[in-house]
Amino acid sequence: MILLDGKQAAEAMKKDIAREVARWSREWGRKPHLAAILVGDDPASQTYVRNKENDCIQVGMDSSVYRLSESISREGLTECVRTINEDPAIDGLIVQLPLPGHLDEQQIIETIDPAKDVDGFHPVNVGRMVLGLPAFVSATPAGIVDLLQYYHIPTSGKECVIIGRSNIVGKPLANLLSRKGPGGDCTVTLCHSRTLELEKVCRRADIVVAALGQPRFLKANMVKEGAVVIDVGISRVEDKSTKSGFRLAGDVDFEEVAPRCSYITPVPGGVGPMTRLSLLKNTLQAAMKRN
Ligand code: GUN
Repeated sequence: MILLDGKQAAEAMKKDIAREVARWSREWGRKPHLAAILVGDDPASQTYVRNKENDCIQVGMDSSVYRLSESISREGLTECVRTINEDPAIDGLIVQLPLPGHLDEQQIIETIDPAKDVDGFHPVNVGRMVLGLPAFVSATPAGIVDLLQYYHIPTSGKECVIIGRSNIVGKPLANLLSRKGPGGDCTVTLCHSRTLELEKVCRRADIVVAALGQPRFLKANMVKEGAVVIDVGISRVEDKSTKSGFRLAGDVDFEEVAPRCSYITPVPGGVGPMTRLSLLKNTLQAAMKRN
Protein backbone atom coordinates (compact mmCIF):
# COMPACT_ATOMS: atom_id res chain seq x y z
CA MET A 1 0.00 0.00 0.00
CA ILE A 2 1.33 3.42 -0.99
CA LEU A 3 0.18 6.64 0.69
CA LEU A 4 -0.87 9.35 -1.75
CA ASP A 5 0.94 12.20 -0.06
CA GLY A 6 -0.98 15.29 -1.16
CA LYS A 7 1.10 17.52 1.07
CA GLN A 8 4.34 16.54 -0.62
CA ALA A 9 2.80 16.64 -4.12
CA ALA A 10 1.28 20.08 -3.50
CA GLU A 11 4.57 21.46 -2.12
CA ALA A 12 6.40 20.25 -5.23
CA MET A 13 3.81 21.81 -7.57
CA LYS A 14 3.72 25.06 -5.55
CA LYS A 15 7.33 25.68 -6.58
CA ASP A 16 6.25 25.80 -10.24
CA ILE A 17 3.38 28.14 -9.37
CA ALA A 18 5.69 30.43 -7.37
CA ARG A 19 8.06 30.66 -10.36
CA GLU A 20 5.16 31.50 -12.69
CA VAL A 21 3.75 34.06 -10.20
CA ALA A 22 7.15 35.79 -9.97
CA ARG A 23 7.43 35.97 -13.76
CA TRP A 24 3.86 37.32 -14.11
CA SER A 25 4.36 39.87 -11.32
CA ARG A 26 7.58 41.19 -12.93
CA GLU A 27 5.81 41.56 -16.25
CA TRP A 28 2.68 43.31 -14.93
CA GLY A 29 4.05 45.22 -11.95
CA ARG A 30 1.63 43.69 -9.43
CA LYS A 31 0.89 40.31 -7.86
CA PRO A 32 -2.07 38.03 -8.62
CA HIS A 33 -4.63 38.73 -5.89
CA LEU A 34 -7.13 36.34 -4.27
CA ALA A 35 -9.97 37.74 -2.14
CA ALA A 36 -11.99 35.59 0.27
CA ILE A 37 -15.30 36.49 1.91
CA LEU A 38 -15.82 34.86 5.29
CA VAL A 39 -19.26 35.21 6.86
CA GLY A 40 -19.58 34.50 10.58
CA ASP A 41 -17.06 32.76 12.82
CA ASP A 42 -17.31 29.05 12.08
CA PRO A 43 -13.95 27.69 13.36
CA ALA A 44 -13.42 25.27 10.46
CA SER A 45 -14.11 27.98 7.87
CA GLN A 46 -11.75 30.34 9.68
CA THR A 47 -9.00 27.72 9.51
CA TYR A 48 -9.62 27.06 5.80
CA VAL A 49 -9.49 30.76 4.95
CA ARG A 50 -6.33 31.28 7.03
CA ASN A 51 -4.68 28.36 5.20
CA LYS A 52 -5.64 29.84 1.84
CA GLU A 53 -4.13 33.20 2.87
CA ASN A 54 -0.89 31.50 3.91
CA ASP A 55 -0.76 29.58 0.61
CA CYS A 56 -1.04 32.85 -1.31
CA ILE A 57 1.80 34.39 0.66
CA GLN A 58 3.93 31.27 0.13
CA VAL A 59 3.70 31.50 -3.68
CA GLY A 60 4.03 35.31 -3.78
CA MET A 61 0.39 36.25 -4.36
CA ASP A 62 -1.60 38.95 -2.59
CA SER A 63 -4.63 37.93 -0.56
CA SER A 64 -7.31 39.74 1.36
CA VAL A 65 -10.10 38.50 3.59
CA TYR A 66 -13.42 40.29 3.95
CA ARG A 67 -14.86 39.26 7.32
CA LEU A 68 -18.61 39.82 7.54
CA SER A 69 -21.00 39.38 10.45
CA GLU A 70 -23.02 36.16 10.80
CA SER A 71 -26.17 38.31 10.55
CA ILE A 72 -25.25 40.09 7.29
CA SER A 73 -28.20 40.45 4.92
CA ARG A 74 -28.28 39.11 1.37
CA GLU A 75 -28.03 42.70 0.13
CA GLY A 76 -24.99 43.37 2.34
CA LEU A 77 -23.20 40.27 1.10
CA THR A 78 -24.01 40.83 -2.59
CA GLU A 79 -22.80 44.43 -2.24
CA CYS A 80 -19.45 43.09 -0.96
CA VAL A 81 -19.28 40.63 -3.89
CA ARG A 82 -20.10 43.44 -6.33
CA THR A 83 -17.33 45.68 -4.91
CA ILE A 84 -14.78 42.88 -5.37
CA ASN A 85 -16.11 42.02 -8.84
CA GLU A 86 -15.43 45.60 -9.88
CA ASP A 87 -12.03 45.96 -8.18
CA PRO A 88 -9.39 45.83 -10.95
CA ALA A 89 -6.68 44.90 -8.42
CA ILE A 90 -8.43 41.60 -7.49
CA ASP A 91 -8.20 38.57 -9.80
CA GLY A 92 -10.03 35.82 -7.90
CA LEU A 93 -12.88 35.74 -5.39
CA ILE A 94 -14.16 32.95 -3.18
CA VAL A 95 -17.09 33.05 -0.79
CA GLN A 96 -16.25 30.51 1.91
CA LEU A 97 -19.04 27.96 2.37
CA PRO A 98 -21.15 27.03 4.22
CA LEU A 99 -23.02 30.31 4.62
CA PRO A 100 -25.43 30.93 7.53
CA GLY A 101 -28.87 29.41 6.95
CA HIS A 102 -30.63 32.68 6.04
CA LEU A 103 -28.40 33.15 2.98
CA ASP A 104 -29.06 31.20 -0.23
CA GLU A 105 -25.64 29.91 -1.30
CA GLN A 106 -26.55 29.38 -4.95
CA GLN A 107 -28.01 32.87 -5.21
CA ILE A 108 -24.79 34.37 -3.81
CA ILE A 109 -22.53 32.25 -6.04
CA GLU A 110 -24.41 33.54 -9.07
CA THR A 111 -23.47 37.14 -8.18
CA ILE A 112 -19.74 36.36 -8.54
CA ASP A 113 -18.16 37.47 -11.82
CA PRO A 114 -17.46 34.15 -13.64
CA ALA A 115 -14.06 35.55 -14.69
CA LYS A 116 -13.12 35.83 -10.97
CA ASP A 117 -14.90 32.64 -9.82
CA VAL A 118 -11.74 30.67 -8.95
CA ASP A 119 -13.81 28.12 -6.97
CA GLY A 120 -15.48 27.18 -10.27
CA PHE A 121 -18.92 27.19 -8.63
CA HIS A 122 -20.70 29.68 -10.94
CA PRO A 123 -23.08 28.00 -13.44
CA VAL A 124 -21.08 29.52 -16.32
CA ASN A 125 -17.92 27.70 -15.17
CA VAL A 126 -19.78 24.48 -14.29
CA GLY A 127 -21.45 24.49 -17.72
CA ARG A 128 -18.22 25.21 -19.57
CA MET A 129 -16.43 22.45 -17.65
CA VAL A 130 -19.16 19.93 -18.56
CA LEU A 131 -18.86 20.95 -22.22
CA GLY A 132 -15.07 20.52 -22.09
CA LEU A 133 -14.47 24.26 -22.68
CA PRO A 134 -11.79 26.27 -20.83
CA ALA A 135 -13.24 27.01 -17.37
CA PHE A 136 -12.34 27.33 -13.71
CA VAL A 137 -12.77 23.81 -12.38
CA SER A 138 -13.82 23.34 -8.78
CA ALA A 139 -10.71 22.90 -6.65
CA THR A 140 -11.20 19.52 -4.97
CA PRO A 141 -12.05 17.54 -8.14
CA ALA A 142 -9.19 19.21 -10.03
CA GLY A 143 -6.84 18.43 -7.12
CA ILE A 144 -7.85 14.76 -7.12
CA VAL A 145 -7.15 14.42 -10.85
CA ASP A 146 -3.77 16.16 -10.36
CA LEU A 147 -2.91 13.81 -7.48
CA LEU A 148 -3.70 10.69 -9.55
CA GLN A 149 -1.57 12.06 -12.38
CA TYR A 150 1.28 13.03 -10.04
CA TYR A 151 1.49 9.38 -8.93
CA HIS A 152 1.09 8.13 -12.53
CA ILE A 153 -2.04 6.19 -11.61
CA PRO A 154 -3.77 5.15 -14.85
CA THR A 155 -7.41 6.20 -15.24
CA SER A 156 -8.18 5.22 -18.84
CA GLY A 157 -10.74 2.41 -18.95
CA LYS A 158 -10.81 2.11 -15.15
CA GLU A 159 -13.99 1.65 -13.15
CA CYS A 160 -14.39 4.59 -10.80
CA VAL A 161 -17.05 4.77 -8.11
CA ILE A 162 -17.73 8.12 -6.45
CA ILE A 163 -19.84 8.18 -3.28
CA GLY A 164 -21.54 11.56 -2.86
CA ARG A 165 -23.24 13.72 -5.48
CA SER A 166 -22.45 17.21 -4.16
CA ASN A 167 -22.12 20.16 -6.52
CA ILE A 168 -18.65 20.86 -5.14
CA VAL A 169 -17.09 17.39 -5.43
CA GLY A 170 -19.13 14.40 -6.67
CA LYS A 171 -20.84 15.90 -9.72
CA PRO A 172 -17.83 17.80 -11.16
CA LEU A 173 -15.45 14.90 -10.39
CA ALA A 174 -17.71 12.47 -12.28
CA ASN A 175 -17.42 14.80 -15.27
CA LEU A 176 -13.66 15.23 -15.06
CA LEU A 177 -12.87 11.54 -14.67
CA SER A 178 -15.12 10.53 -17.55
CA ARG A 179 -13.96 13.18 -20.02
CA LYS A 180 -11.71 12.31 -22.93
CA GLY A 181 -7.96 12.57 -22.46
CA PRO A 182 -5.20 12.33 -19.83
CA GLY A 183 -6.53 11.97 -16.27
CA GLY A 184 -9.95 11.00 -17.66
CA ASP A 185 -11.45 8.18 -19.74
CA CYS A 186 -12.79 6.42 -16.62
CA THR A 187 -16.08 4.57 -16.51
CA VAL A 188 -17.74 6.46 -13.67
CA THR A 189 -20.57 5.45 -11.34
CA LEU A 190 -21.88 8.27 -9.16
CA CYS A 191 -23.45 6.84 -5.98
CA HIS A 192 -25.62 8.55 -3.38
CA SER A 193 -27.96 7.90 -0.46
CA ARG A 194 -30.50 6.08 -2.69
CA THR A 195 -27.99 3.79 -4.40
CA LEU A 196 -28.93 0.11 -4.05
CA GLU A 197 -26.32 -2.48 -3.04
CA LEU A 198 -23.65 0.17 -2.48
CA GLU A 199 -21.13 -2.39 -1.12
CA LYS A 200 -21.43 -4.44 -4.29
CA VAL A 201 -21.10 -1.39 -6.56
CA CYS A 202 -18.03 -0.14 -4.66
CA ARG A 203 -16.34 -3.55 -4.77
CA ARG A 204 -16.34 -3.31 -8.59
CA ALA A 205 -14.23 -0.17 -8.55
CA ASP A 206 -10.57 0.24 -9.46
CA ILE A 207 -10.79 3.74 -7.97
CA VAL A 208 -13.15 4.60 -5.08
CA VAL A 209 -13.74 8.21 -4.07
CA ALA A 210 -15.49 8.74 -0.72
CA ALA A 211 -17.03 12.23 -0.69
CA LEU A 212 -20.20 12.00 1.37
CA GLY A 213 -19.14 13.66 4.62
CA GLN A 214 -19.71 10.73 6.99
CA PRO A 215 -16.68 9.87 9.12
CA ARG A 216 -15.29 6.33 8.55
CA PHE A 217 -18.14 5.35 6.21
CA LEU A 218 -16.09 3.28 3.74
CA LYS A 219 -15.25 -0.13 5.21
CA ALA A 220 -12.95 -2.92 4.06
CA ASN A 221 -15.86 -5.02 2.69
CA MET A 222 -16.64 -2.21 0.20
CA VAL A 223 -13.20 -2.18 -1.41
CA LYS A 224 -11.68 -4.55 -3.95
CA GLU A 225 -8.16 -5.85 -3.24
CA GLY A 226 -5.67 -3.51 -4.93
CA ALA A 227 -8.09 -0.58 -5.39
CA VAL A 228 -7.07 3.08 -5.26
CA VAL A 229 -8.98 4.89 -2.48
CA ILE A 230 -9.42 8.66 -2.36
CA ASP A 231 -10.80 10.13 0.87
CA VAL A 232 -12.38 13.57 0.45
CA GLY A 233 -14.02 13.65 3.90
CA ILE A 234 -12.73 15.91 6.61
CA SER A 235 -14.98 15.97 9.67
CA ARG A 236 -14.20 17.13 13.15
CA VAL A 237 -14.87 14.30 15.58
CA GLU A 238 -14.73 14.66 19.34
CA ASP A 239 -11.50 13.42 20.93
CA LYS A 240 -10.98 14.34 24.56
CA SER A 241 -7.38 13.12 24.43
CA THR A 242 -6.34 16.03 22.18
CA LYS A 243 -5.69 19.62 23.29
CA SER A 244 -8.38 21.03 20.98
CA GLY A 245 -10.93 18.36 22.02
CA PHE A 246 -11.39 17.13 18.45
CA ARG A 247 -9.51 15.46 15.63
CA LEU A 248 -10.02 15.21 11.91
CA ALA A 249 -11.56 12.08 10.42
CA GLY A 250 -12.04 11.13 6.79
CA ASP A 251 -14.92 9.26 5.13
CA VAL A 252 -12.75 6.13 4.96
CA ASP A 253 -12.09 3.76 7.85
CA PHE A 254 -8.37 4.02 7.18
CA GLU A 255 -7.17 1.24 9.53
CA GLU A 256 -9.56 -1.28 7.95
CA VAL A 257 -9.31 -0.18 4.33
CA ALA A 258 -5.62 0.73 3.88
CA PRO A 259 -4.28 -2.88 3.94
CA ARG A 260 -6.50 -3.74 0.93
CA CYS A 261 -5.43 -0.79 -1.23
CA SER A 262 -2.72 -0.23 -3.80
CA TYR A 263 -2.88 3.51 -3.02
CA ILE A 264 -4.81 5.51 -0.43
CA THR A 265 -4.95 9.16 0.65
CA PRO A 266 -4.44 10.01 4.34
CA VAL A 267 -6.62 12.53 6.22
CA PRO A 268 -5.26 15.09 6.80
CA GLY A 269 -2.50 15.46 4.18
CA GLY A 270 -4.17 13.81 1.17
CA VAL A 271 -6.82 15.62 -0.83
CA GLY A 272 -6.86 18.84 1.29
CA PRO A 273 -3.47 20.23 0.21
CA MET A 274 -4.30 19.42 -3.44
CA THR A 275 -7.55 21.40 -3.16
CA ARG A 276 -5.60 24.40 -1.91
CA LEU A 277 -3.09 23.99 -4.73
CA SER A 278 -5.91 24.04 -7.32
CA LEU A 279 -7.18 27.31 -5.91
CA LEU A 280 -3.74 28.86 -6.41
CA LYS A 281 -3.60 27.51 -9.97
CA ASN A 282 -7.03 28.97 -10.71
CA THR A 283 -6.08 32.35 -9.24
CA LEU A 284 -2.93 32.52 -11.37
CA GLN A 285 -4.99 31.52 -14.40
CA ALA A 286 -7.55 34.27 -13.59
CA ALA A 287 -4.78 36.88 -13.40
CA MET A 288 -3.27 35.69 -16.70
CA LYS A 289 -6.63 35.83 -18.45
CA ARG A 290 -7.35 39.36 -17.25
CA ASN A 291 -4.11 40.77 -18.70
N1 GUN B 1 -16.24 24.98 1.82
C1 GUN B 1 -15.78 23.71 1.71
N2 GUN B 1 -15.05 23.56 0.60
C2 GUN B 1 -15.06 24.75 -0.03
C3 GUN B 1 -14.46 25.22 -1.23
O1 GUN B 1 -13.79 24.50 -1.98
N3 GUN B 1 -14.69 26.54 -1.52
C4 GUN B 1 -15.43 27.34 -0.72
N4 GUN B 1 -15.61 28.60 -1.11
N5 GUN B 1 -15.99 26.94 0.40
C5 GUN B 1 -15.79 25.64 0.74
